[in-house]
Amino acid sequence: MLTVSNMRRPSKIKLVEVGPRDGLQNEPEKVAVDIKVGLIHRLADAGLPVVEAGSFVSPKWVPQMADSAQVLAGVTPKAGVDYPVLTPNMTGFEAAVAAGARMIAIFAAASETFSKKNINRSIEQSLEEFAPVTQAAAARGIAVRGYVSCVLGCPYEGGIEPAEVARVAGRLLDLGCQEVSLGDTIGTGTPLKAQAMVDAVAAVVPVEKLAAHFHDTYGQALANTLAVMEKGVAVVDASVAGLGGCPYARGASGNMATEDVVYMLDGMGIKTGVNLGKVIRAGRFICEALGRRPSSKVSLALGKGASPDTKDQ
Ligand code: HMG
Ligand code: MG
Repeated sequence: MLTVSNMRRPSKIKLVEVGPRDGLQNEPEKVAVDIKVGLIHRLADAGLPVVEAGSFVSPKWVPQMADSAQVLAGVTPKAGVDYPVLTPNMTGFEAAVAAGARMIAIFAAASETFSKKNINRSIEQSLEEFAPVTQAAAARGIAVRGYVSCVLGCPYEGGIEPAEVARVAGRLLDLGCQEVSLGDTIGTGTPLKAQAMVDAVAAVVPVEKLAAHFHDTYGQALANTLAVMEKGVAVVDASVAGLGGCPYARGASGNMATEDVVYMLDGMGIKTGVNLGKVIRAGRFICEALGRRPSSKVSLALGKGASPDTKDQ
């Protein structure tokens, strides 16, 4: 039997579905509000406990997310499901709250160049701008998630030191983030590097508060996810049908497909509460609307019309 030293693999994983935001923010064509709402409803119905619903960012920078208030207005919340939205500053926070958001996410980077390209701020300036956002959120009882981008590489700077990832993650924790999601924005990471990065961050942020957010550009996301699960990471971000990319990281592809990670976790007997068949159908729904094939290997393997016999866990 295979044994892995220092193994802290969780028996339960919380999956965070980022497809409606990370997936759709990079679409060349505008996706109608009712399609986005239909996708979010299907994902919540599949048992995903968190469905990231949009972004309150500048419509000039990311026009695909300009309708996030309408999307939130269209969503009928399901009990027990969180629908976070991205808010880079107070302008975004106020608009998100006005639209009914009950959970937000702020997003920093471990690379100076990426930070400037993505949000037009240095890392330090971005953290300063997040402070009033997290204070206002705390005053209203709104939960805050923090992201760190470029944790395993930057499209402009190349390699990123784990110590810098840990420093930025620690600052997000100090600002009041309940969870810090570690983004391999361009998907260049490999499992041992991912583990070393998590070791460095976990020295500053308790591993229970960390999430893995791995893009699959180089086909490494599932392997990297399993590698950091061995280090105790129990929150995993994924995107239905593998949709997505980042508009400020050229060539970045979508996150690990939700269908693929659910299949892997089901096979390992690790509980997620997510129904694989329903996620596959949600993926096919959005892919039909976008006129493309899912990037999920599991969805393709099971074939259109196939209804996998999977139980809710
Ligand atoms: P800026 O141009 O520097 O903003 O953009 P500014 O503060 O100078 O304001 C300029 C104008 O934008 C003003 O309007 C503001 O009101 C407006 P004007 O007076 O010119 O009419 N503005 C806003 N409008 C709507 N919502 C707002 C907002 N803020 C200012 N929140 C800003 C700075 C941060 C706004 C901009 O750079 C931006 O929107 N960037 C968004 C980038 C983004 O969404 N990237 C993708 C998400 S991050 C990601 O995908 C990575 C992740 O998945 C993890 C990973 O994979 O690594 C999370
Ligand atoms: Mg991302």
